[in-house]
Amino acid sequence: MSLAAMTFVITGSARGIGAATASMAASRGANVVVSDVNDEAGEATAQAIVDAGGSARYVHCDVSSEPDVAGLMEAAVEAYGAIDVLHNNAGIHEAMVSRDFTFDAMSIDTFDRVMAVNVRGAFLCVKAALPFLKESTRSPSVINAGSTASWVGYPAGLAYGTSKGAVALFTKNLAVALAPYGIRANCYCPASVDTDMVKDVSASIAGAPSDGPDAGGGAVSTHLVHRIGEPEDVAELVCFLASRRSSFVNGVTWLIDGGVLAWRDTVDSIGM
Ligand SMILES: NC(=O)c1ccc[n+]([C@@H]2O[C@H](COP(=O)([O-])OP(=O)(O)OC[C@H]3O[C@@H](n4cnc5c(N)ncnc54)[C@H](O)[C@@H]3O)[C@@H](O)[C@H]2O)c1
Repeated sequence: MSLAAMTFVITGSARGIGAATASMAASRGANVVVSDVNDEAGEATAQAIVDAGGSARYVHCDVSSEPDVAGLMEAAVEAYGAIDVLHNNAGIHEAMVSRDFTFDAMSIDTFDRVMAVNVRGAFLCVKAALPFLKESTRSPSVINAGSTASWVGYPAGLAYGTSKGAVALFTKNLAVALAPYGIRANCYCPASVDTDMVKDVSASIAGAPSDGPDAGGGAVSTHLVHRIGEPEDVAELVCFLASRRSSFVNGVTWLIDGGVLAWRDTVDSIGM
């Protein structure tokens, strides 16, 4: 699946799903703008892509900052002359913001921070990228990071789930708003993927299992595909959604969840 000559801007791509997507897209011919608030890891991710023969730049960007976001899009166009794919990947969970992340204890500041990064950040990025996406002739699209938490509630994560629900409907409304310009908007909704986010959040949640199949935050006891997701599983979907091969796919909230939301039980009930 060639992504030759397409320029991707990927937020929160120093590590995890964003970094895997950056590497995969570059290996398929895309120019990639890696961006994050973690400059050391972001520079390393971009350098690894270049070392592997790909084309990448690193640009610092906190997606909740309007000047940062404007600077990111300008830097992308200065480097590569275009933006064809905006991948709104940056995301946080309240357990990464504060120790007081249960609903009873949660501060308004914590709720606002999650919404500022996960929802407002995606909005700011689309606003800033839109003039360039409109000029793209290479299958322009926006790809947003949803979650299974866009669909159902979880025992911990009220702010996160609220934000991811908003991202799902933001995507559908974007698909409508951008259709006249020939720009698609899609959203991927993973279950547990083996990244630092899952480990960080799980470590913060009291009662998370320390051994067994769900240790480390994997929640694999509900995965019909009986393993945790890998960042590359999601990167494959993002690369497909970005490619011309998905040109009739628009406004979707695409579950990539190992079957979690197809049923209600744990795999020991079916002998796994
Ligand atoms: N890992 C999972 O199981 C899972 C499941 C469902 C959805 N998601 C979503 O996928 C996306 C990527 O998740 P991940 O697991 O790779 O996360 P991660 O925490 O491993 O990586 C996210 C990156 O975003 C960066 N970031 C945080 N705040 C930022 C900000 N304000 N501006 C710019 N960058 C910022 C971090 O520094 C980090 O490098 C997130 O939106 C997440 O909610 C992840």
